[in-house]
Amino acid sequence: MAKLQRKRESELASLHPEAPENVEKASVRKQKIFAVTNQKGGVGKTTTAVNLSASLAALGQRVLMIDLDPQGNATTGCGVHKREALPTVYQLLIGRSTFAEVRLHTEFGFDILPANRELAGAEVELIQMERREYRLRDALAPALADYDFILMDCPPALNLLTVNGLAAADSVIIPMQCEYYALEGLSDLVATLKKVRSHLNSRLQIEGLLRTMYDPRSTLTQQVSAELDSHFGDKVYRTIIPRNVRLAEAPSYAKPVTFFDRNSRGAQAYMALAQEVLDRRAATGESQQ
Ligand SMILES: Nc1ncnc2c1ncn2[C@@H]1O[C@H](COP(=O)(O)OP(=O)(O)OP(=O)(O)O)[C@@H](O)[C@H]1O
Ligand SMILES: [Mg+2]
Repeated sequence: MAKLQRKRESELASLHPEAPENVEKASVRKQKIFAVTNQKGGVGKTTTAVNLSASLAALGQRVLMIDLDPQGNATTGCGVHKREALPTVYQLLIGRSTFAEVRLHTEFGFDILPANRELAGAEVELIQMERREYRLRDALAPALADYDFILMDCPPALNLLTVNGLAAADSVIIPMQCEYYALEGLSDLVATLKKVRSHLNSRLQIEGLLRTMYDPRSTLTQQVSAELDSHFGDKVYRTIIPRNVRLAEAPSYAKPVTFFDRNSRGAQAYMALAQEVLDRRAATGESQQ
């Protein structure tokens, strides 16, 4: 284990958000567009996008969630039928529909731009389009004033859809499971973020790393978690999302967990995360800008 730690030390040092090349200019705009992203599959991106949206809405925030994944899991997870979801973010990206035509109000207090499998085709069409990386950013511009938070559920890949998400975002929330390969995946992701910053979106920051599906009984989990803490410091959310079966069950009832079982540990964890997101914003004074 000590070897494992040493091997990572130099690697992780360069990932620190405050390493010289990672320091951002202070943003003059309120930070509110978050891409929930990790190219690694099954780490809790969709669960986080849906449940953080619902929890922020429960705390009185005006929230828009954007499903950028052709799997459409975030769409069905908040009660919108994929087949009925038309038009979707696909039509928005290729310029066939307007924001107002695509946006739906959910019964859970937040809005959604839904997706379905059709979105997979956007890749091919976007490639020939002007400002192909900025299609989402451009489409969102007229609606920014209507929301306190915009959360994007990105697919588990670095494709043009994710790039559109990263180009539109102020910052990224990175859900991760505390396992050995998570840190390797994090190196790739941080390298990607650096590229996006230098080519597409200089204001992109790391909003926070979120430990998901946390099982405190595992020694490796604890060790990886401690490494994250020591290298990323306050970029790691204090809130930890436990492994909780109610979080896994909620999507099959097409509800965020807070509407499915509000007393579950999963629901309480996402409510605590939403509060932490608000507290952080208040602490940095961004809500005043
Ligand atoms: N904290 C948790 N406890 C238990 N199960 C969870 C938890 N978080 C997510 N899950 C379950 O784990 C699976 C993967 O989660 P999720 O779909 O959110 O990951 P993802 O990163 O969006 O996956 P993909 O990369 O395929 O988009 C789902 O079945 C989900 O219900
Ligand atoms: Mg997902």
